[in-house]
Amino acid sequence: ARASIGVTGLAVMGRNLARNLARHGHTVALHNRTEQRTRDLVEQFGSEGDFVPTYSAEEFVRALERPRKLVIMVKAGAPTDAVIDEFAPLLEPGDIVIDAGNAHFADTRRREAALRERGLHFVGTGVSGGEEGALHGPSIMPGGSAESYESLGPLLEDISAKVDGAPCCTHVGPDGAGHFVKMVHNGIEYSDMQLIAESFDLLRGALGLEPAQIAETFRTWNTGRLDSYLIEITAEVLAHTDPHTGKPFVDIVADEAEQKGTGRWTVQNGLELGVPITGIAEATFARSLSGHAGLRQAARGLAGPDRGSAARQGVPESFADDVEQALYASKVVAYAQGFHQIQAGSAEFGWNIDLASVAAIWRGGCIIRATFLDDIRAAYRAEPTLPTLLTSGGFRKAVEDAQDAWRSVVATAVRLGIPTPGFSTALAYYDGLRADRLPASLIQGQRDYFGAHTYRRVDREGSFHTTWATDPRVEHEA
Ligand code: 6PG
Repeated sequence: ARASIGVTGLAVMGRNLARNLARHGHTVALHNRTEQRTRDLVEQFGSEGDFVPTYSAEEFVRALERPRKLVIMVKAGAPTDAVIDEFAPLLEPGDIVIDAGNAHFADTRRREAALRERGLHFVGTGVSGGEEGALHGPSIMPGGSAESYESLGPLLEDISAKVDGAPCCTHVGPDGAGHFVKMVHNGIEYSDMQLIAESFDLLRGALGLEPAQIAETFRTWNTGRLDSYLIEITAEVLAHTDPHTGKPFVDIVADEAEQKGTGRWTVQNGLELGVPITGIAEATFARSLSGHAGLRQAARGLAGPDRGSAARQGVPESFADDVEQALYASKVVAYAQGFHQIQAGSAEFGWNIDLASVAAIWRGGCIIRATFLDDIRAAYRAEPTLPTLLTSGGFRKAVEDAQDAWRSVVATAVRLGIPTPGFSTALAYYDGLRADRLPASLIQGQRDYFGAHTYRRVDREGSFHTTWATDPRVEHEA
């Protein structure tokens, strides 16, 4: 045995993780169900480092130094279970099985518990950054036991992205904590992408700008507080011209957004935990709406407001700047909601997740990496139990300063009939949170009326029911 770690599942993510490990001087055992992939890797990239190709589960396990560290990089769901079932019987107590795919955290909890019974460590880890990240330095979010992190952590930190010399990898928390945090990362990713897409749609629909001009606007924004990977690649996509037609690339791509399911998981979990992640939900539903081609075709003729030059004259001069402010404020809301969800998940499952560390490891390597995350890190470092990012010093001021522009952008969108579910729901969340009173009192009255569901009063302790049908003057303590 001479490999310090092994990777099984050598499709592009697994292959790039293996290469990243080897490039950092670690000896990496390789295994794949179809042998050719293993041979191809060694043939093409063998010179990058020390690889140990293996062609059976037994050979793979024998190649690993103890405690064995075995990274599984296969499709989430049944294929992951199949690989675990294949390898677990060959391992010995103390060995560490790492699932680096996008697994659902509930599956990770189940697998961790099952392997723990056999004395094995199971580490479900989030890995973000796509193919390039896997090769050059991803953001890594490992869960599992603290003990497993002692020997595994240094390897993962070594291959992760670095920001100011600090690795974008930390032990997030036990069992499914890592995959939970990766799930919320993806939810925020959906929200961020939707908000950026709405900004593009607004600049085009209200100002009549061309994609290439909007690319320039994004490039400018990317030099300020919105500086982020997603804004950067957005500018590149918008500036791209389709080589076949000479048209803007965004105009020749079918406008039906797809998804692999992590956004949906985030929303489902938000509902289960009762956390209002409205931005992530709207972003997920916006993708789903876009994909209903038949429905959209049927509705295409429905009347909307005039968007002609007269209507556009009402668009404020400052509109592009207003959109930047609305985007920033809505983005703060998206992250505030995502961190609320992590806080709630951590409490629910007893994970003790340090929010500042999560923000810190998202500063580099991952898809949502952004300058802004350093401010989130600082906010949670200063106040680990901060109820919401919206009330922390710098964010509070930025959002309050942006609110007029934010309202103006949403009003313009409504007036011109440009759909902005992301901006609108973020603003409604902000107004909902800061409201003195919400009409939830009326909802309680309605519930009590038709279902005797009772209500609490602002002036007295206890639960009450009004006898609406017989005599509304009578109120009983329930
Ligand atoms: C990442 C990405 C990655 C993947 C998503 C895309 O962090 O590297 O989030 O995990 O690209 O699964 O998700 P959708 O297909 O659902 O958009």
